[in-house]
Amino acid sequence: MLREEFYDDPHFDYRRYWNGRLYEHLSEVIAIKKLIEQIPTSRRNNLLEVGAGFGRIAKIYSPLFKECVLLEPSNKLINQARNYLSHRKNLSFCQGKAENLPFDDSCFDLVLMIRVLHHLIRPGKVFQEVNRVLKPKGFLILEMANKAHIKARMVAWMRRKALDKKPVDIRSKSNLIKKTIPFINYHPDWIENLLEEHGFRIRSKLSVSNFRHSLIKRIFPLRLLLYLEDRLQLKLAPYNFGPSVFFLAQKTDT
Ligand SMILES: C[S@@+](CC[C@H](N)C(=O)[O-])C[C@H]1O[C@@H](n2cnc3c(N)ncnc32)[C@H](O)[C@@H]1O
Repeated sequence: MLREEFYDDPHFDYRRYWNGRLYEHLSEVIAIKKLIEQIPTSRRNNLLEVGAGFGRIAKIYSPLFKECVLLEPSNKLINQARNYLSHRKNLSFCQGKAENLPFDDSCFDLVLMIRVLHHLIRPGKVFQEVNRVLKPKGFLILEMANKAHIKARMVAWMRRKALDKKPVDIRSKSNLIKKTIPFINYHPDWIENLLEEHGFRIRSKLSVSNFRHSLIKRIFPLRLLLYLEDRLQLKLAPYNFGPSVFFLAQKTDT
């Protein structure tokens, strides 16, 4: 399946991917709320979500901002988002890609990008674009799949392999040749440096979905896992513990 077709494939329904993943969804909701709380209310006018999918998290941020724009390259997903969120009045929808944001300079207070980074071959170019569309001292909430989470480190240790900080494209050789959608694993330290190189300062970091394991999810009640998640997201962040890392970054003076 070609890069452009992945989320538009009629046989793949991204909404169904979330069946059985309520813990992960709610862990992300907790993280997003915590990070938005750190943004002064005077800076919560307009928001851009890049790679918004079917609008899974728009219900979380839309009551907190005056205007929200959902940008998404997939025609199928943007139409699903329009239907799913049709009753929300402060949302608008736009088709486009992170590498070439179809907006003027300095127009958003906050850009959100959740579960998109692993599809980006040139994250630096995207951070440059995000920086361009943000107002001075604007904010970015970025989620990334963490290459160095605790399980990956334990596996590397058992195999006596070093886990370096370089990005790894985890597509098979045949998918690379066929140019399917990229799946790239990044290291949080590498992304942190790249953000700083592109005019951002990290304000906060959270380790998210820390208990994402089928056995743990089966044994322990969801409420307990979410209680622990809420308490541990900040504490576990310096150890790059969880499979997902969230950053709150702020545009520095230019
Ligand atoms: C795993 S889904 C996440 C969707 C949504 N952010 C969420 O968390 O539910 C990845 C999304 O990234 C989008 N995407 C892929 N490449 C992109 C690009 N170059 N620019 C913007 N979005 C992209 C896909 O179309 C898809 O909606």
